[in-house]
Amino acid sequence: IIQPDYENVSRWAANYVAARINEFNPTAGKPFILGLPTGSSPLKMYKNLIELNKKGVVSFKNVVTFNMDEYIGLPKNHPESYHSFMWNNFFNHIDINPDNVNILNGNAEDPIKECERYEEKIKSVGGIDLFLGGIGPDGHIAFNEPGSSLTSRTRVKTLTQDTIIANSRFFNNDVNLVPKTALTVGVGTVMDAKSVLIIVNGHNKARALQHGVEGGISQMWTISALQMHKHSIIVCDEAATAEL
Ligand code: GLP
Repeated sequence: IIQPDYENVSRWAANYVAARINEFNPTAGKPFILGLPTGSSPLKMYKNLIELNKKGVVSFKNVVTFNMDEYIGLPKNHPESYHSFMWNNFFNHIDINPDNVNILNGNAEDPIKECERYEEKIKSVGGIDLFLGGIGPDGHIAFNEPGSSLTSRTRVKTLTQDTIIANSRFFNNDVNLVPKTALTVGVGTVMDAKSVLIIVNGHNKARALQHGVEGGISQMWTISALQMHKHSIIVCDEAATAEL
């Protein structure tokens, strides 16, 4: 879905999410399971969803969320932890039950066990109905850096130097302050979701979008795995289409 600009991308994405939650039949007694990203790309969508929630257009009372990833070693309340990001930019402003929020614990004593627990929990609620995401300039989805297996599950991942540099803008532009490892859902975890919506905006994502959509399916551009997904949508602005 190509929209003229970031404003329209964000409005489209928020309306889509609200419609999917609303059309979900809660009489089945099952909550709607929503996978969520961090990053600057989804920020405006979150703002729009908060507005829609305030206006009563959508409620999150019957929604359970699973975040994609979290840095290893940042205290939960560090301003740049994905935990802080999600509460500050979204959860604190909507009618979600805090017990229904799931975020990987980047300070778990046993990170491998934490990843297994997360996969189990996703399975126990019947899988993810809609996974939202963004992409890195190298085409990574969640923290599935180039070279990640396309069948990977939730695990510990070492960040590439490119990602560390890209994300240093949130850490006083100091690469030394950026965590070097993260916990992330795998490409396979995202592929198992019943549907996926990826937000791509800005010229710096144009190359990744081109590889992801027009290139072959490759572990070097993990977004490209979505070519094999039955219900995946990319919503992007015109700037991101520059290389198509
Ligand atoms: C991080 C996150 C990704 C996100 C990417 C792009 O690497 N782990 O989930 O898609 O950043 O972020 P932004 O939207 O700020 O460009």
